[in-house]
Amino acid sequence: MAKKSDTMSIFDYDPSFHNLMKRMLENAMEHSFHGIMITKAEPGYPIVYVNDSFSQMTGYSSEEIIGKSPAILQGPRTDQAVLDRLSQALSEGRLFHGEAINYRKDGSEFVMEWKIVPIKNEKEITSHYLALQRDVTK
Ligand SMILES: Cc1cc2nc3c(=O)[nH]c(=O)nc-3n(C[C@H](O)[C@H](O)[C@H](O)COP(=O)(O)O)c2cc1C
Repeated sequence: MAKKSDTMSIFDYDPSFHNLMKRMLENAMEHSFHGIMITKAEPGYPIVYVNDSFSQMTGYSSEEIIGKSPAILQGPRTDQAVLDRLSQALSEGRLFHGEAINYRKDGSEFVMEWKIVPIKNEKEITSHYLALQRDVTK
């Protein structure tokens, strides 16, 4: 694995550490203060995972949103220019960071700030996207 610096990364420990690392990542995602969403890198970006913070922020349970598109969060006042910038970034394999008006399950508006990171598989092909999301309504 390529190293970004000379500092030993926690991801670079010996293979027996991988199981522990997996549990740490699972726990970090489940208990994060941020909403976390994972989608497939396919048309419509079907959702495969959301954490509890996402459900608290939006009103959608994991059971009801898995398989749907994150576009479910959008509505009449969502800024299309932000979504165009998002599509451009993802098509170029770049990280996206932006904010836009989103809608909870009950129809109420809030301002979502989110980042999307492309996740590559072992063949170096982007198979999933990971989003970190938070309510930044003032
Ligand atoms: C991982 C991921 C998370 C997303 N999260 C949000 C979000 O929180 N709010 C939002 O308005 N759009 C979000 N989107 C963007 C919509 O899914 C996207 O605008 C919609 O699917 C249409 O995209 P397209 O025109 O490129 O197909 C997210 C997309 C991905 C891949």
